[in-house]
Amino acid sequence: MTGDTWGHNRLGHSLQLSPTKIVPMCGIVGYVGDNKSLEVLMGGLRRLEYRGYDSAGIAVIDDEGRLNTAKRAGKLAMLSNELKRNPISNGSTGIGHTRWATHGGPTDHNAHPHLGDNGRLALIHNGIIENFAPLKDELLAEGFTFESETDTEVAAVLLGREYQRTGDLGEAFRSVVSRLDGAFTLLAVHQDQPGVVVGARRNSPLVIGLGEGENFLGSDVAAFVEYTRRAVAIGQDQIVTITPGAVTVTDFDGNPVETEEFDIAWDASASDKGGWSSFMAKEVSEQPEAVANTILGRIIDGQVVIPELTDLGDDLLAGIRRIVIVACGTAAYAGQTAKYAIEKWAGVPVDVELSHEFRYRDPVLTADTLVVSISQSGETMDTLMAVKYAREAGARAISVCNTQGATIPRESDAVIYTHAGPEVAVASTKAFVAQITALYLFALHLARVRGALSPEELAAQAAELQAIPEKIQIALKEADTVRQLAMWMSDTRAVLFLGRHVGFPIALEGALKLKELAYIHAEGFAAGELKHGPIALIEPGQPVFVVVPSPRGSAHLHPKVVSNIQEIRARGARIIAIAEQGDAAVLPFADTVIHIPLAAPLFEPLLAVIPLQIFAMELATAKGLDVDQPRNLAKSVTVE
Ligand code: M6R
Repeated sequence: MTGDTWGHNRLGHSLQLSPTKIVPMCGIVGYVGDNKSLEVLMGGLRRLEYRGYDSAGIAVIDDEGRLNTAKRAGKLAMLSNELKRNPISNGSTGIGHTRWATHGGPTDHNAHPHLGDNGRLALIHNGIIENFAPLKDELLAEGFTFESETDTEVAAVLLGREYQRTGDLGEAFRSVVSRLDGAFTLLAVHQDQPGVVVGARRNSPLVIGLGEGENFLGSDVAAFVEYTRRAVAIGQDQIVTITPGAVTVTDFDGNPVETEEFDIAWDASASDKGGWSSFMAKEVSEQPEAVANTILGRIIDGQVVIPELTDLGDDLLAGIRRIVIVACGTAAYAGQTAKYAIEKWAGVPVDVELSHEFRYRDPVLTADTLVVSISQSGETMDTLMAVKYAREAGARAISVCNTQGATIPRESDAVIYTHAGPEVAVASTKAFVAQITALYLFALHLARVRGALSPEELAAQAAELQAIPEKIQIALKEADTVRQLAMWMSDTRAVLFLGRHVGFPIALEGALKLKELAYIHAEGFAAGELKHGPIALIEPGQPVFVVVPSPRGSAHLHPKVVSNIQEIRARGARIIAIAEQGDAAVLPFADTVIHIPLAAPLFEPLLAVIPLQIFAMELATAKGLDVDQPRNLAKSVTVE
């Protein structure tokens, strides 16, 4: 591999990147069309509520040309109740917002929209305006007043002032964005311009939905998928104006820019609960389809071909000497799981890094390193920054992503989409198994172009992967056993998880699910590490989940893990074993055994994780907690 193909041979240690922006997560929706703004906005907010649920608000221009707003602290239900108590008249133009508070507490006053131009203009915002203080001083000196503690209201008042000066929302926008430092998606409406919504985007997502006689804006396509499957992603530093019949996109200077339309791959029902008690329960049940759909069209006659990688060129992939996977949370555990497969099948060394650690420690990127990011949302700021860093350093970056039109794929050289459908519950489940699936496909694609596996070996692994959806379906049948276990354990204060080899990241994922959903202290450990410290935590009654490797496929590891079980049981631990059907060796030592179907060792994680997800969900439910919207969290972590 030459430096020419990859850029520089060795990349600098202290690259100067553009300053990091901090972007709060929030959900944004905008609509122009016939008289159904309220329905579209509330439906869009319901689908975007996963992005933040500290407050919600809407602004609608009614048929009399009046701007009506409503906003409430708390979840969207609070706003719905407010609208029932004090209805507002519907109209053809509106914007809506659901907030994850960072700047000013989660109060009614700080809820969006914020007003400008004497209450004639409404604005919503996702991001942080870093220079809001001097701008506020400037406006205060001119006699403007403020009702909230937010940076957003400064933008609203500034926009109102610029509208007064220019008489045009688009022009006012161009003037305002040139004054703002930081990161933002802004949407605004003015009652003097019914049928017009203007938006701007910098370092924060915004997507257009194209309708017939109506158009939409949203933080992601979930905002409008009920009405249209045609979408356009808006690029960095662009302004969009939508009317019922037209969409115009310009740069911040007003120059028209080219846009590209794409079809949304899933329909509206995919982002509804569909009769399930929670989105999480539904998404757990959708895991067989998530895997099957991610495989679809990528295995032909036993050979894996990922068309999205063809532009990169086989020569480039054949020349890779090292892969660095960057991701956060559950996505990082998917990366940790895939490391074993990529190294075994493709023979390329893999490092898995938390994006935020990678980005801030001057990583060494050699010319033949490929950076692979993993992100369900495609918006995680830590991962986005890691990708930008890698590319500014001259490296190639590919992403594994579940969200079309998201920022991380746009910032990557290639993207392998997972086809899990929309994941709404904050706790990631179906995206996780889809990420592992996509990464295994990538590993097999790589193994093929590098000649690391024979066609027969490739076909055998591909067949194992194709069998997984059915096996997950079987693993899901253990749900009742797991539910009972969770109910018995609803008073548990701490749970430990042990795993070895590919079972280790699954232990970490099991612990993360329990922390975020049930607010229980949970830790995952490599089983081999037990005697190096963690065994001191074992006391009588301590519950320990153990992911047991297959006695057939991992004959060398299975007895070691069974020994670990005996060691901790001797000290009073209560053992819950996740073990392959027919594994008789664990039976005498486990208090509970949850069975998973037989699979080759590298594929076991896709099955072993299922009961752990269900356990966390059921335990949280038994404690009366909201499994879809756990406290303090939001789905897309666009804050560094
Ligand atoms: O959207 P991403 O996949 O980039 O999100 C990464 C993490 O924030 C995410 O997996 C998080 O850990 C989940 N809440 C875990 O269930």
